[in-house]
Amino acid sequence: MRTRTLGTTGPQVSALGLGCMGMSALYGEADRAESIATLHAALEAGVTLLDTGDFYGMGHNEMLIGEALRAAPATRREQALVSVKFGALRDPDGGWSGYDGRPAAVKNFAAYSLQRLGVDHIDVYRIARLDPDVPIEETVGAIAELVEKGYVRHIGLSEVGAETIRRAAATAPISDLQIEYSLISRGIEDEILPTTRELGIGITAYGVLSRGLISGHFTADRQLGTGDFRAMSPRFQGDNLRHNLNLVEALRKIAEQKGVSVAQIAIAWVLSRGEDVVPLVGARRRDRLGEALGALDVTLDAADLAAIEEAVPAGAAAGDRYPAAQMAHLES
Ligand SMILES: NC(=O)c1ccc[n+]([C@@H]2O[C@H](COP(=O)([O-])OP(=O)(O)OC[C@H]3O[C@@H](n4cnc5c(N)ncnc54)[C@H](OP(=O)(O)O)[C@@H]3O)[C@@H](O)[C@H]2O)c1
Repeated sequence: MRTRTLGTTGPQVSALGLGCMGMSALYGEADRAESIATLHAALEAGVTLLDTGDFYGMGHNEMLIGEALRAAPATRREQALVSVKFGALRDPDGGWSGYDGRPAAVKNFAAYSLQRLGVDHIDVYRIARLDPDVPIEETVGAIAELVEKGYVRHIGLSEVGAETIRRAAATAPISDLQIEYSLISRGIEDEILPTTRELGIGITAYGVLSRGLISGHFTADRQLGTGDFRAMSPRFQGDNLRHNLNLVEALRKIAEQKGVSVAQIAIAWVLSRGEDVVPLVGARRRDRLGEALGALDVTLDAADLAAIEEAVPAGAAAGDRYPAAQMAHLES
């Protein structure tokens, strides 16, 4: 497995990380046994970075990862690095009610995550969204105290803009920014990516397949259940969906010429952005994981990159990447 390093102060991780969210929430029903098998297959293949959030299924995702790690061979378990997001507030109906980045809350969230994961430290810890009522210095400062005590190894950020990144980095060393980055979500290229590069902060890119939209497997007639994020996502609606799937067909031609899949082109493109970028793929089945890992063997030369750029120019997607209420929580 190829590796990359998260920023100048972060850990060395597999060049592809596994995002575990869909195993518990937001993409409809998941199969628990298949999720655990996928986690084990990823560890066996040399994937060392597992990404979760304490709010993915209200603790479900962390308990799932904890169970998979306990059942994994000791060598694989010891190599695994768990990246955890916190701060999103939920209610028993599954509703979302804001973010809490107060120092006491940070420590409280961490205490519960350590228990659910069954580990003595969290490898990378980050607030999922900026709490507008708490300066980032206070939230990051609280995580830095957890680092001093050995409960956390590295501090990350998620979906914040350049100014917040600078303020956070002035408070404590930051390993990586987790943010959406894909062929159809290139908003970080203007200001955020130059800032992380200047400061020596890595990128863990999520939504690399735009939640399956540009995987090559998503079809316009797919039924999305209630609770599936995509049923509310602007990019998956009506004319937007048709437009976006046409972009996928343009990509498919390039993929077919190279003898690879559309998903592999999309992941390989993110891998090609630089050694500081680590794609997180949201595979929740072993076949999808196998396909995603195949992207590590795909080389894109200048002609391939030009063809991809022509098929899907920056800004080509129709629809925002989140519904309006959630866009309001983004600085990016
Ligand atoms: N920081 C943040 O704000 C934030 C936000 C969202 C996610 N994340 C993290 O990033 C991770 C990845 O994000 P994501 O799940 O949205 O991204 P993604 O990788 O773009 O999409 C995953 C979905 O794509 C579909 N898919 C089709 N072929 C696939 C293949 N070969 N490999 C993987 N997936 C394939 C699957 O849908 P079906 O199974 O339905 O076919 C899967 O659920 C999450 O698990 C989470 O840990 C972070």
